[in-house]
Amino acid sequence: MELHYSDRNLELFCHVAGLSREDQIVLTAVRDNVHPLIPWLTDRFYEVLAEEPEIKPYIEGRVEQLKKTHVVWLESLFAGDYGVDFIKRQEKIGETHVRVRVPPLFVAASMAFLRGALPPVLVVNVPDAKQAMLATASVLRLLDLCQYLIDRKYAEVLMDNLGISPVLLTRLQTVGKGLALAS
Ligand code: HEM
Repeated sequence: MELHYSDRNLELFCHVAGLSREDQIVLTAVRDNVHPLIPWLTDRFYEVLAEEPEIKPYIEGRVEQLKKTHVVWLESLFAGDYGVDFIKRQEKIGETHVRVRVPPLFVAASMAFLRGALPPVLVVNVPDAKQAMLATASVLRLLDLCQYLIDRKYAEVLMDNLGISPVLLTRLQTVGKGLALAS
């Protein structure tokens, strides 16, 4: 029950991550347990972001609007459809953050916040312990997929700005001083 995409890199990601149609079923099954907690989780998320002086200017004056988009996005993780439209949505989110110049560090830290916050929400609110465990694994895989898709947009902009190809980017990312393996 693998997910199929026309993008070879996505196929590889899902294969290695073990992200499949099973995850869609697992996450849809816990949707009603999680939905009531999403506004609370979102409030907590924006409290933490606002505590960081470097992040605060990016969200100041638009927190209520951002919370609304964040609630919709979090709900989409439990909507059980990770097909082409879901992928396009994450790519659009990546483009938006590039456009408003949110550094990738902030996105990575936010994803880490969610990886820490969602498992306890599932453990406490999904009555069946096995289902909670499976949903935790699924949502962590899915967050990684979202982050990969958003990160790719940052990488695309970097390649555009440097005028380099994906192959050259990978080469530059993997050949470091004193790190090179014999090849
Ligand atoms: C888990 C990480 C994050 C997710 C999933 C996320 C999600 C979203 C979504 C769904 C939108 C609407 C985008 C659109 O419709 O094109 C958005 C917009 C935005 N996000 Fe995030 N966000 C994340 C992290 C952050 C962080 C850390 C910041 C601030 C430092 C931030 C600042 C913004 C801003 C300023 C906008 C509005 C852009 C505009 O005015 O069009 N986001 N975000």
